[in-house]
Amino acid sequence: MKAVGLYQYLPIENEQSLLDVIIDKPEAPQGHDLLVEIKAISVNPVDTKIRAPKEQTETAPRVLGWDAAGEVVATGPDVEHYKVGDRVYYAGDITRAGSNSEFQLVDERIVGKMPSSLDFAQAAALPLTSITAWEALFDRMGISAEGLDAGKSLLIIGAAGGVGSIATQLAKQIAKLNVIATASRPDTVDWVKTMGADQVINHRNAIDEELKAINTPQVDYILCLNATDQHWSAMANAIAPQGHICSIVETEQPVNLGLLKSKSASFSWEFMFTRAMFQTADMIEQQTLLNKVADGIDLGILQGTMKEVLMPISAENLRKIHAFLESGHAIGKVVLAGWD
Ligand SMILES: NC(=O)c1ccc[n+]([C@@H]2O[C@H](COP(=O)([O-])OP(=O)(O)OC[C@H]3O[C@@H](n4cnc5c(N)ncnc54)[C@H](OP(=O)(O)O)[C@@H]3O)[C@@H](O)[C@H]2O)c1
Repeated sequence: MKAVGLYQYLPIENEQSLLDVIIDKPEAPQGHDLLVEIKAISVNPVDTKIRAPKEQTETAPRVLGWDAAGEVVATGPDVEHYKVGDRVYYAGDITRAGSNSEFQLVDERIVGKMPSSLDFAQAAALPLTSITAWEALFDRMGISAEGLDAGKSLLIIGAAGGVGSIATQLAKQIAKLNVIATASRPDTVDWVKTMGADQVINHRNAIDEELKAINTPQVDYILCLNATDQHWSAMANAIAPQGHICSIVETEQPVNLGLLKSKSASFSWEFMFTRAMFQTADMIEQQTLLNKVADGIDLGILQGTMKEVLMPISAENLRKIHAFLESGHAIGKVVLAGWD
């Protein structure tokens, strides 16, 4: 089958950094696995972080990519929720081969039914970012998905990116929060408003000062989607007593957790691969949440986050998207669809 893979970890300008390859199609699915024929994929910063230059080499092509939409073509003996022909979308498991290939094995418990109102490309934009945003808001920070926290304030740092685009909608449309988004350019300011942000401030300035300028010096929740170290002290200043901060971005230096003590403020990590990586007893929650997001899209409560689609799925097009994501200027999601 066709795939895009790597043998060496090289700068993205190097044509060898991602290559068109032919690899074996996965064997018949076992256990809870589905075999999915992939129609569209999207790219996330995790791909560029894993591909980042290092000495390591691979003897067989390593396939990246953790976001896909496609059709089930075979099911393992223990599969309960899907059948051949179902259209599905999922992020997958970072400990297994990725989705930049014509076929992929994936555990049904982390797979959702695709929104019926979206095509494969639009659907592929959503899974990884939706899982991350949903888990951060509702599982880690414990915000009510039934609207019981309506009217509380949430600051989303880096809101125009892939995760921020869906997090803003989940917070606004499902949790009914007052959402303050950060964006630093006219295009990203416009985009976060389209996604539903109530107010916008600029993350190139000190965020606590920006919040004071809009008469909201403290917020109940903060979702940090970028540069945790850079924004740490501003977040500690801006979080309300007994508030909750969740970050999805690893720190470069240790941060001072002590800054949160006098406020009894909480800090959580969100890592969307945790459930699959550790095969947690509740890993089927990812199937449930992806199905809820699909319903939200089909009911018109949520909107898609795809900004651009390139065709076909190829090393050349993937290198373009990796380079764009590495620039730090992404808006919404870029997707690749179809095989040549
Ligand atoms: N833990 C997890 O499970 C998980 C899951 C998904 C993603 N992540 C991580 O989360 C981060 C965001 O992912 P993403 O897919 O949303 O990325 P993305 O789409 O590439 O984010 C791009 C956005 O980041 C904003 N930005 C750039 N520099 C910033 C800064 N210094 N402070 C605040 N915002 C800034 C930009 O806004 P402007 O152009 O307006 O400046 C841009 O719109 C990445 O580091 C990714 O690896 C973690």
